[in-house]
Amino acid sequence: MSGIVIVGAQWGDEGKGKAADLLSSKIDLVAKFNGGNNAGHTVVVNGETYTLHLLPSGILTPGVVPVIASGVVVDIPVLFNELDALTSRGVDVSKLLVSSSAHVITKYHRALDSAMENDPAKKKIGTTGRGIGPTYADKISRSGIRIADLFNEELLREKIDSALDSKNRIFTHYERPTLSTDEVIEEFAPYIARLKPLVADTPLVLNHALDSGKNVLFEGGQATMLDVDFGTYPFVTSSNATAGGVCTGTGVGPTRIDKVIGVVKAYTTRVGEGPFPTEIPLGDKVADYLLKVGGEFGVTTGRKRRCGWYDAVVAKYSSLVNNFSDFVLTKLDILTGLDVIKVCVAYSVRGEVFEDMPADSAGFAVAEPIYEKFVGWSEDISGARHFADLPENAQNYITALEELSGTRISVVGVGADRGAIIERHKLL
Ligand code: GDP
Ligand code: IMO
Ligand code: MG
Repeated sequence: MSGIVIVGAQWGDEGKGKAADLLSSKIDLVAKFNGGNNAGHTVVVNGETYTLHLLPSGILTPGVVPVIASGVVVDIPVLFNELDALTSRGVDVSKLLVSSSAHVITKYHRALDSAMENDPAKKKIGTTGRGIGPTYADKISRSGIRIADLFNEELLREKIDSALDSKNRIFTHYERPTLSTDEVIEEFAPYIARLKPLVADTPLVLNHALDSGKNVLFEGGQATMLDVDFGTYPFVTSSNATAGGVCTGTGVGPTRIDKVIGVVKAYTTRVGEGPFPTEIPLGDKVADYLLKVGGEFGVTTGRKRRCGWYDAVVAKYSSLVNNFSDFVLTKLDILTGLDVIKVCVAYSVRGEVFEDMPADSAGFAVAEPIYEKFVGWSEDISGARHFADLPENAQNYITALEELSGTRISVVGVGADRGAIIERHKLL
């Protein structure tokens, strides 16, 4: 048996979708364990581009059983739209299983997300507006709606009535329209019959699969620096996007995890608000270059991603809190053509040097990067399939990142397509 985890090591959009897709030919089940349709993964297979939000990227590989596990929050119409879009492109989605205890994103969660983000008295997080935070907040405060509740109309109405009792007072405060129970139910009622056969006791399915020697891939949404406990709080998402989230999000014990793979971009991007020490301001020619050549626009919201240099302090911190066995380094090809490439090796915080992540978030918010400079390369590397095919300066860059972050770089991405990789060590 093998339990393999894939998580993002920075602020998301590292290329987790592509990394998961790479492993899919060797796995039997793929489980998404956190987040919801705030995620946006682009996977390119033989020139065909697929965009996934709520579904794990492993769904693109025939034969793999995709699982939406208990830690995920599910927007029901989004789920079926995504399934139908894949079906119309010939992808077999019939094996999908959805946990009976995953929580449901409703109309009032999305409305609350929007009201809170637009409240001038509150810190703007720059959320994706998908209702993620309010749904997790209800889960933790024990007033959420679970998938299983959708099949018991009496209980469902009771729960929504009770939720709306308090939510409508908030909407009135924000001078926004209030909602009725019927309006909330109306949104997912057309899908209930289609949903029923997909619902499963996913902890049982996943544990039995591992018992019978199957390979299970646990695919994380978001990333370490967006993790609600270990990220740049409060500028984070509302779930555990680190490897620890696998156990709480799926009902699989920690000793069943054999490998934790971190996905890290050869530079850094961030969407939304919050500190980002190595950010290069827009308008600077390197930032514009990374944005344009890297295609750094959000898959979910279309927002421009903030771009900056690789931050080895972040990579080292991610390696610590996830105990990565390997890194997949993506988008090395995007750096081609830059004369100088900078890597942040430490921070200066109010005059003090930190080689590790400062424990207090106020310190991180004012951290100034201390850079080491590397000479770039101009050769096209998109056809490289072996480490030796890379220009010496690119090899030096990879070796330096490996040493600085303390995790071996087993796969290097040199293009968006499935095959555009250099495999230095087998991941599986
Ligand atoms: P995710 O959310 O972590 O799955 O990442 P996204 O899909 O949001 O963003 C990563 C983007 O980079 C996608 O458009 C991928 O197709 C693309 N990508 C992944 N790896 C590489 C690579 O090595 N080179 C290039 N050029 N693009 C890549
Ligand atoms: P993938 O899986 C990048 C960010 C949002 C915002 C914060 C909170 O594609 O890497 P939320 O809607 O989750 O409450 O927003 O988290 N965010 C992401 N940034 N990639 C993602 O997913 C993200 N999911 C959420 O921009 O700053
Ligand atoms: Mg993404």
